[in-house]
This record gives sequence, C-alpha cells and structure tokens, in this order.
Amino acid sequence: MEQTLIILKPDVVQRGLMGEIIRRIEQRGLRISGMKMQWISRELAERHYGEHQGKSFYEPLLAFITSAPVVVMLVEGPQAIAVMRAMMGKTNSSVAAPGTIRGDYGLSNRHNLIHGSDSPESATREIALFFKPEEIFSYQRVTEPWTDPDAAW
Ligand code: RTP
Ligand code: MG
Repeated sequence: MEQTLIILKPDVVQRGLMGEIIRRIEQRGLRISGMKMQWISRELAERHYGEHQGKSFYEPLLAFITSAPVVVMLVEGPQAIAVMRAMMGKTNSSVAAPGTIRGDYGLSNRHNLIHGSDSPESATREIALFFKPEEIFSYQRVTEPWTDPDAAW
C-alpha cells in the first residue's frame, strides 16, 4: 500500500473539473484518505516546489499554483504513486496520451491540472507539508477486496 499527495491545481478549480478528476481516482479503486480545499501561500509553494528553484519556469509556476484555490488529496492504494502518475500523463499536456487526465483536458505545459508525488520520499515530504495527522482518515473502502491486485481469489 502506497500513499501519494495529489493536488488539483488552480486550473481544475477554475475550469470546473474537480468532480471529473475525483471521479477517475475513485473509480480506479484508489482510496482518498484526506481531502481539502486550500489556497496555497507563496511560502508553501516554495517549499513544495523547492526542487525547481532557479529553473526558468519556477516563478511562473509559483504564480500559477497560488493563483486560485486548489484541492489537495491524500490518495492511497497498491502502487498508488505510479498508478496516479500514469493516470496524470506526461507533464506537457499537449503530448500527454489521450485517456490521461492531462491528455484529455489540457494543452499546456504549466497549466497541467494535477500534481502527483513522484517517489515514496517525495510523497512523505509532501504529505507532511499539506496534512495534519488529524486530517488523515484511516479506513477501508468496501470495494477494496474487489480491486486488490494480491487477492487470493
Ligand atoms: P508535478 O510536480 O506538478 O506533479 O508535475 P511533474 O512532476 O509532471 O513536472 P515537474 O517537472 O515536477 O514540474 C513541476 C510543474 O512545473 C510546471 N512546469 N512548467 N517549461 C515549463 O513552463 C514548465 N515545466 C514544468 C508544471 O506545472 C509542472 O507540473
Ligand atoms: Mg514533479
């Protein structure tokens, strides 16, 4: 079981795509263990995207991610990091495959709808940045026996 931090970026909130993307995550069989709307501060954006400091797209990226509220989710499931990255598609929406979130709803390299942690280490760091322990819920979905890749039956 893996955890990943998902952010539905400001373009999703503005374009009315929250429900569509949450639907995909739920229907895939992943578990949403935490979810909230938040307006990311400049300081939090700098910490979240610290690895990109100094790159040409860093300042526009911070401006974008702080431009409107976002929805942050803690998503759990088998191989959740890779499953979500595959569902998201390539960073540049214009070359992301059809069927992916970016490939179905975007054309932009920056305004690319969704963030997902890229490794277990990133997930641990990012989840701590966005969620307090009391905002995370421990439960199982009744569908999980039916979507478990290691089911014995
Ligand atoms: P994310 O971190 O948001 O999940 O996206 P990612 O791993 O697919 O892409 P990453 O390389 O980490 O880039 C972070 C975000 O910066 C914006 N970006 N703009 N050339 C550009 O204008 C450019 N390149 C990247 C995107 O919003 C990207 O998701
Ligand atoms: Mg990234």
